[in-house]
Amino acid sequence: MSDKKPSGLEDVVVAQSSICFIDGERGQLVYRGYDIDDLAENSSFEEVAYLLWNGDLPSSAQLDQLRQDLRHAMTLPDRVYDILRDLPFDASPMRVLQLATAALGTFDPLGDDMSDAGNRGKAIRLTAQLPLIATAWHRISQEQEPLAPDPDKSLAHNFLAMICGQEPDPYAVKTFDTALILHADHELNASTFSARVTAATLSDMHSAVTAAIGTLKGPLHGGANEAVMKMLLEIDEAESVDAYMSTHLAAKKKVMGFGHRVYKAKDPRAVILEKMSEELGRRRNDSKWFEMSRRVEEIFQPTVASKGIFPNVDFYSASAYHVMGIPRSLFTPIFACSRVVGWTAHLLEQYANNRLFRPDSDYIGKTGLKYQPIENRG
Ligand code: COA
Repeated sequence: MSDKKPSGLEDVVVAQSSICFIDGERGQLVYRGYDIDDLAENSSFEEVAYLLWNGDLPSSAQLDQLRQDLRHAMTLPDRVYDILRDLPFDASPMRVLQLATAALGTFDPLGDDMSDAGNRGKAIRLTAQLPLIATAWHRISQEQEPLAPDPDKSLAHNFLAMICGQEPDPYAVKTFDTALILHADHELNASTFSARVTAATLSDMHSAVTAAIGTLKGPLHGGANEAVMKMLLEIDEAESVDAYMSTHLAAKKKVMGFGHRVYKAKDPRAVILEKMSEELGRRRNDSKWFEMSRRVEEIFQPTVASKGIFPNVDFYSASAYHVMGIPRSLFTPIFACSRVVGWTAHLLEQYANNRLFRPDSDYIGKTGLKYQPIENRG
């Protein structure tokens, strides 16, 4: 019998939470009691933000108030734009997002206010400001001026308009809004856990979100959507998928956008994104990326079905965003612009019932050594 200890905190419960529930065997995702399919079909990202932060769907007056609060928060200090302009144009957008979020903490009038009301205000400001950073950086890195948001429009509408510099079509806005809903929370995923670990030291919300952005950046987490698009661009033609996959599988490489620590069935978000990607391809007469993705799934999935590996949220979001004209470098920042709602909901929950996270490790290093003067060491 192997004496290898479990690693990666798999199956370890570290907090009680009433925000998000996942049934990994059945492929079910629930925010505050509402099934993700229901929310994706019927709600808006702003409504879901209210739900995650407050525990209930808003009344129309409450939603109006939230939209007004977001509208007021849709601005960045000029000096944050100055910081962005000073960065090298080839800087990773996730690094830039992380750095500018940390900077925002120093400008926020309530940066160190740890009251519940202060933190709720910061959650709203961060949700309004992260898309401004991501889209401003995209334009600055292309030597273009950042565009101002239209405060009367939704976060989804503004994000698309601020990248492209033109009015997005209503179907693109609806699709993008749905993608934001799907990414808004996912229980104790790595970045949310990272945020909660930081907050549990009673560090402030900007610091916790900064930590979460750094965690999301990795290709095993949020960075997987960019890796999926990189693969599709490398394959380039639908006819090349079979040959590419045969080489890839022979080399025993992972296929990005597949597998999940919790889901042992198809990720329900992937099911919705798959339909969206197909429909976008049809409407834009550019189905190649969807068709290639589906062929990758057809080839790869049967080879890993016995391990419970299925497409995850990142697999079909890549082709959907690409067909919408969103540059690959913004895929993971978009994830952050949505997940900031979940991070901050978890931070509010953490602050309300806090205990420091301090796990143990299983020490497997040397013992009993005696210090040797440097001239005696071999
Ligand atoms: N492609 C091929 N094999 C995969 C795989 C993938 N995408 N994901 C997991 N596996 C295999 C591993 O090789 C391993 O096989 P083994 O037991 O024969 O060694 C087994 O499945 C368990 O994988 P492991 O990486 O230990 O699982 P995990 O729970 O720690 O990791 C992920 C979960 C998400 C990190 C992992 O599935 C992965 O790396 N996926 C690709 C990146 C990705 O899409 N991330 C976004 C997640 S939303």
